[in-house]
Amino acid sequence: MWSRRGFLAAGLGAVAAGCSRGPRPTVAVGADSEAVRAAEARRRTGSAPIRQFALRAEPTIVDLGGVQVPTWTYGGRLPGQEIRLRRGEVAAVRVENALPQATTTVHWHGLALRADMDGVPGLTQAPITPGAGFDYEFTVADAGTYWLHPHVGVQLDRGLYAPLIVEDPDDGARYDLEAVVVLDDWLDGIDRRDPDTELARLRAAGMHDMSAHPSESGGHGGHSGPQQAPLGDHGGDVTYPLYLINGRTPTDPVTFTARPGQRMRLRVVNAAADTAFRLAIGRHQLQVTHSDGFPVFPVTTESLLIGMGERYDVLVDLQEGVFPLVASAEGKSGRAMALIRTGSGQPPDPQVRVRELATAPLTVTGLRAEAAVRLPARAPDQVLDVRLVADASKYVWTINDHAPLDGAVHEDGHAMFEVFEGQRVRLRFVNATTMFHPMHLHGHTFAVADGSGGGPRKDTVVVAAGDTVEVDFDAINPGQWMLHCHNAYHGEAGMMSVLSYRH
Ligand code: C2O
Ligand code: CU
Repeated sequence: MWSRRGFLAAGLGAVAAGCSRGPRPTVAVGADSEAVRAAEARRRTGSAPIRQFALRAEPTIVDLGGVQVPTWTYGGRLPGQEIRLRRGEVAAVRVENALPQATTTVHWHGLALRADMDGVPGLTQAPITPGAGFDYEFTVADAGTYWLHPHVGVQLDRGLYAPLIVEDPDDGARYDLEAVVVLDDWLDGIDRRDPDTELARLRAAGMHDMSAHPSESGGHGGHSGPQQAPLGDHGGDVTYPLYLINGRTPTDPVTFTARPGQRMRLRVVNAAADTAFRLAIGRHQLQVTHSDGFPVFPVTTESLLIGMGERYDVLVDLQEGVFPLVASAEGKSGRAMALIRTGSGQPPDPQVRVRELATAPLTVTGLRAEAAVRLPARAPDQVLDVRLVADASKYVWTINDHAPLDGAVHEDGHAMFEVFEGQRVRLRFVNATTMFHPMHLHGHTFAVADGSGGGPRKDTVVVAAGDTVEVDFDAINPGQWMLHCHNAYHGEAGMMSVLSYRH
């Protein structure tokens, strides 16, 4: 994603760019600009502690649970070591690129941070070349469950991802313990597959190869319908041999240990490239408390749908025994699994039937922002249509019919959405394809527009096949920001655009 040289100038240098359609020429608010520094200064207090972290992207052999594969990780671990700080602190992260012949960057997914630290090569920084490093430093203003990954090509479909947790000092008393649950779809290093080859294969095959797959939780089969298959019929473009929770397969799963009666907070991150998951815990209910880091009025459900890039926090009141925590690949076949152990007993079979998975999952439409984080009511200053389109003959996914083909470097390759600081902006995602797209906006937390003004705050929202979803945000974080599909293959096949602050 993003190695456009021409764009670097506009993004970093605020070079004047005539806007032919607008009433007057406008200039891009570059990532390296006074407006960006001023926004960071407003976030940072003089006494904010600076926390140091290090990430080293490197080739690694990982054990997924009986299966050893060559891949790329941060620091040899899968997922990478989590970064954890408190709201208001400053993260100082040294990133080193020890990858063979590949540039990289790190993007801090979901954080409303200073634009020049957002990790998008060609837009907010130069790519980090092999053997080189980059020092990221930014204030984390909002608490919540976030994650980090590269913003180069399909690198995130390797092992390059880690959770990033920002604790809220006010929220400790509501649970006894917590666990971070990172979901992933995995093909790297298996049967000589890797994400770059997979993307090339998809491009060579065009759209013809896209068949839906049967799944244990809807999609195809007897009971498909909007309730049972809320995403539509296509689970994804890529077939994965494995699904992982915290880097482990269901045959050798991670075990979370607790005591019966305890209340556990799960911070769930979907780090997959091409797979949404339906999450459930055998014989337990899930109380959803946060969407993409921000609190919602709690909703109890048996299962929960999580698109790529989304995060949900849930509370679980634990029974006694050993229970499967299952993430079923939505619209595909296969599952990821972990165990929650609060007592003695045999672990369940990896294929154990979990009744809760068969219920209609909670989706974003069932959630409302908690009062304290509700986006104040205001009429939008502008409404921007974001049309999600597929080219039926090739493997090309576009936004408003703009797509840079095969990574080509063109000034006009991507759709540009222009906003001015201070505006209330509505994005209207119109999905004209037969597949779902988890649409992600960098640097902002929008509110899903639900007609009542109380929609959940999010930075990634699933737009189901054929559906339209509207989101509102305040343009209060100047810079140049990506707006794209978080299916890593769709993003590389063109479904990427730029939200460009102008002045
Ligand atoms: Cu998590 Cu632009 O990405
Ligand atoms: Cu997509």
